[in-house]
Amino acid sequence: MNYFRSQVTIKKIRMTSRLEVELSGVRLKNPVIPASGTFGFGEEFAQLYDLNLLGALAFKGTTREARYGNPLPRIAECGRYGMINAVGLQNPGVDHVLQKELPRLRTLFQGPVIANVSGFSLDDYAYTCEQLDKADGVSILEVNISCPNVHNGGMAFGTDPKAAADVTHTVKAVTHKPVYMKLSPNVTDIAAIARACEKAGADGICLVNTMLGMRIDIHRRKPVIANRYGGYSGAGIFPIALRMVNQVAKATQLPIIGCGGIESAEDVVEMMMAGATAVEIGAANLTQPLACKNIIDRLPELLNELKINDINDIIGIV
Ligand SMILES: Cc1cc2nc3c(=O)[nH]c(=O)nc-3n(C[C@H](O)[C@H](O)[C@H](O)COP(=O)(O)O)c2cc1C
Repeated sequence: MNYFRSQVTIKKIRMTSRLEVELSGVRLKNPVIPASGTFGFGEEFAQLYDLNLLGALAFKGTTREARYGNPLPRIAECGRYGMINAVGLQNPGVDHVLQKELPRLRTLFQGPVIANVSGFSLDDYAYTCEQLDKADGVSILEVNISCPNVHNGGMAFGTDPKAAADVTHTVKAVTHKPVYMKLSPNVTDIAAIARACEKAGADGICLVNTMLGMRIDIHRRKPVIANRYGGYSGAGIFPIALRMVNQVAKATQLPIIGCGGIESAEDVVEMMMAGATAVEIGAANLTQPLACKNIIDRLPELLNELKINDINDIIGIV
């Protein structure tokens, strides 16, 4: 190899490795992960860019049985501040995910896959996680105890420390894969919930899911969303998510995936300074389909501007 080519290669290696992070032994080439429910199983986005540039990919929330979700309309736009959704965990069920969606996803993306799991009882969580535990193509289980859009489940588990600990115990008993509990911001004491999960054996925490919100159509004099309330996400929740990530970082020793309102590489750096090891991008994928790619492209340049040598150096420094 001539001198010039070897310098280019060294530079490339350095560019990649200074963005690399680790979640419970799983290596991510960069900290950027599309958030569950905003990226499906990657197929539509694979038409826009090579998914293999992502750090990891969290697929759509999966349940024991197939679900059709909530009645329409289930999206309310909130301009540049974000959106409200009440999709209600529409998904084809874990068997179909394992037989069809996961193999198809693996042809498009060979990096770490995060399986997002929801349930309506401890049995549901145990069954779905046990199935996903057998899948070679899944690196991390992300257990959603924070969905605001379903009755008798989801968020009910994530707003009480004991219930959050019960789900954590149940899931840990059926899997060898790292378990990340996905928490709800709709609580007064996020640290108490995170500590309960840590004590129950969680390997990490992902936060936040959406905040309960509402919009009214003033012409129809009715809620925009058929379900009346929905989960608010996007730019407007960023400061709240950041505060909660920081609180959990101070209250536990667990690695954190920070999520909520992230739209830029600057937001990623801020979220990591607050305590996140990696980040998930949600609503931004829906308004700017190239959001994750643009953030990843910009990160090395931003690290240079901020004189950050290795992205790991900033995790939890504030
Ligand atoms: C349309 C939509 C569907 C979602 N579905 C799920 C889901 O299935 N499981 C889950 O844990 N979170 C789900 N979420 C929450 C996101 O993963 C994320 O936690 C939340 O939107 C906050 O991030 P953001 O502000 O970047 O959107 C969904 C969000 C949206 C907007």
